[in-house]
Amino acid sequence: VSIRGVDSETIDAAASLLRRGGVVAFPTETVYGLGANALDALAVARIFEIKARPSFDPLIVHVSSDGMLHSVVEAVPEKAYDLIERFWPGPLTIVLPKADVIAGIVTAGLDTVAVRMPEHPVARAIIGEAGVPIAAPSANPFGYLSPTRAEHVRRMLDGRVDLIVDGGPTAHGVESTIVVLDPPTLLRYGAVPAEEIEEITGPLERNLLSDRAPLAPGSLAQHYAPQTPVRIVRDPGSVPYEERRRAGLLAFRRPVEGYAAVRVLSERGDLREAAAQLFGALHELEQLSLERIDAQLVPEARLGAAINDRLRRASVPREAQRVSNHEETR
Ligand code: TXA
Ligand code: MG
Repeated sequence: VSIRGVDSETIDAAASLLRRGGVVAFPTETVYGLGANALDALAVARIFEIKARPSFDPLIVHVSSDGMLHSVVEAVPEKAYDLIERFWPGPLTIVLPKADVIAGIVTAGLDTVAVRMPEHPVARAIIGEAGVPIAAPSANPFGYLSPTRAEHVRRMLDGRVDLIVDGGPTAHGVESTIVVLDPPTLLRYGAVPAEEIEEITGPLERNLLSDRAPLAPGSLAQHYAPQTPVRIVRDPGSVPYEERRRAGLLAFRRPVEGYAAVRVLSERGDLREAAAQLFGALHELEQLSLERIDAQLVPEARLGAAINDRLRRASVPREAQRVSNHEETR
């Protein structure tokens, strides 16, 4: 038996490593995750060590069944069921009151836990086979580009994790959308457009993790960044040729001449396609060791909000990040 090219021995190996306190990188429909048993504080501590996060940022707990959901939360409010029915399994994360079994390190001491039921068949098989909820952030070192292919994980984390399960490129290409209820509030733009959630919850308040004060966990402005500096440009055609020669361009629909390298997110102007291509294109441009990457924003609606959020954060200068890191660890 094979699920999307992953054989059952690999699924079994991943599940048994996770049960024994291992750390496994696996595909989800959004980005690759770096998973550990959410009930095992030591195993989860290894995730923070491998990612080199400057602080204990709370992690998303992944479940594969209703039973598992109920084991990780204290209660599921009525309003959460409406979202669960519509969007699970899938790329929506809901913050709920936490059950005691969840290790404190998973939630950074909060009394809430962020939960999602992924749709990717490999993720579901691994979690189901392991039989325990899996805490998993994106499988990249802290602050770097999220991985949308197993080779991205290999390049960034090879030798530091127990197993990397290759399930091919991810479908959505950006992380899950995060919401909290009471009142319905958006914490992170992601693969489910906010507009679709609002069809169920009514207008969402915005309390974006990316806007928070730099000392709050998980809120550093700079994130998702390649090692090459990223600059947002409105009109690449007006950038001097001299600058284009040494730079790469991440364009939305159409290439612009004169750049050392160009990646187009979606010629059709399709935001789903653009989101799926985003991190892969940035990984490719980063590999070329150019002086800079010029990036064009996309239309702000629906998935465009998630794409532009990642691009804006990638473009915050590393200097700013260094200052924040320093302050965080003080
Ligand atoms: O698509 C995704 O969500 C991917 C895949 C692997 O599932 N995971 C992911 O995890 O993006 P991570 O750790 O990179 O992002 C988790 C975010 C953090 O920004 C964290 O601050 C927020 O979720 N978070 C986690 N628990 C929370 C809580 N109890 N309350 C508020 N925010 C929380
Ligand atoms: Mg991440």
